[in-house]
Amino acid sequence: MIYLDNSATTKPYDDVLQSYITVAQNYFGNPSSLHALGGEAERLLSQSRSVIAGLLGVKHTEIVFTSGGTEGNNLAIKGTAIALRSRGRHIITTAVEHASVSEAFKQLETLGFEVTYVPVDENGAVSVQSIEQALRHDTVLVSIIHVNNETGAVQPIAEIGRLLRKHPKVRFHTDHVQGVGKVPLAFYDANIDLCTISGHKFHGVKGTGILYVREGVLLDPILSGGQQESQYRAGTENLPGIVAMAKALRMTLEKQENKIRHLNEMKQALLSFFGSMPNVILNTPNASAPHIVNVSFPGLKPEVIVHALEERDIFVSTKSACSSKAKEVSHVLLEMGRGREAAESAIRISLSVENTMSEIQQFQQIVQEVIPKLYEVTR
Ligand SMILES: Cc1ncc(COP(=O)(O)O)c(C=O)c1O
Repeated sequence: MIYLDNSATTKPYDDVLQSYITVAQNYFGNPSSLHALGGEAERLLSQSRSVIAGLLGVKHTEIVFTSGGTEGNNLAIKGTAIALRSRGRHIITTAVEHASVSEAFKQLETLGFEVTYVPVDENGAVSVQSIEQALRHDTVLVSIIHVNNETGAVQPIAEIGRLLRKHPKVRFHTDHVQGVGKVPLAFYDANIDLCTISGHKFHGVKGTGILYVREGVLLDPILSGGQQESQYRAGTENLPGIVAMAKALRMTLEKQENKIRHLNEMKQALLSFFGSMPNVILNTPNASAPHIVNVSFPGLKPEVIVHALEERDIFVSTKSACSSKAKEVSHVLLEMGRGREAAESAIRISLSVENTMSEIQQFQQIVQEVIPKLYEVTR
């Protein structure tokens, strides 16, 4: 099997699963319980919080555990908008966000918020000037994806953060789900107030995530209930998942530079391979993350390519996993002005540090066999 759908999810590292099992078996107490079992679970929880805070370069009090990227984005966006609604009802995002951001904004529109969707250029990037122009006296939130999940386009988060330093009443959120371990981001330097991370995108287990909430930032909880997670996120913590995520994050961030270099080598090999194939449109922007390659095969349906490769034990994706079953064209590629033909025939190849150059070579060989056959049958 050659697994090249790592932006949808990654395979948990063996050591990560081992930690999960150990904690689930031996530390099953509820961290909120008063007795000894609760106490030791609570100690493990705060240890994990400190480890994660250290790895991210922030304070342990700024870490809120969630169930993943979707929840983190919803909590950051709706939590901020609702907490600051008496100050203003204008919020800003981009036209190329993940559904967990764009749908949260749409929901807020139905509740009376006004949204500016900032467009992107042909490389999938927003400009700092367009954010500046969108700002109003009643803007309370700017939410910008860091690394696009379909194309790998990287947004100028640090520059936008610098701009927003001049607007201290505006909260700045970034969806860093695809960036962890691939495109480093310094939260304090980039003036980020809220940052979403998801454990299963870096070899942790599903149902785990982190929302970084800068000290002093006001947020209304979206789940009503207990007092867990500084009252930002009610519900018994997923302790085995959290401990496993701390381990996965440590494993991901150690020797990060070497890992990024390895990812980049595989990405460059794929880009030159696809660049040499006839009829292929490369959608990967110049400034993009090292783990995502997006290409279109005009005239072929992406789901047909995905299934044809699957028959050869290769796993790639159409667009983002959560919307890949909806057979619409890629709105991200349309927003980049790539045209309908490219937007309705794109596949995404997403890498992990566990992939090897030899897998990439095998993949290329199989693509060379499979694609011409698909073109033959569609002729
Ligand atoms: C950019 C981005 N944000 C958010 C999410 C949602 O994360 P989760 O699957 O943990 O809910 C994803 C998942 O694909 C993503 O790629």
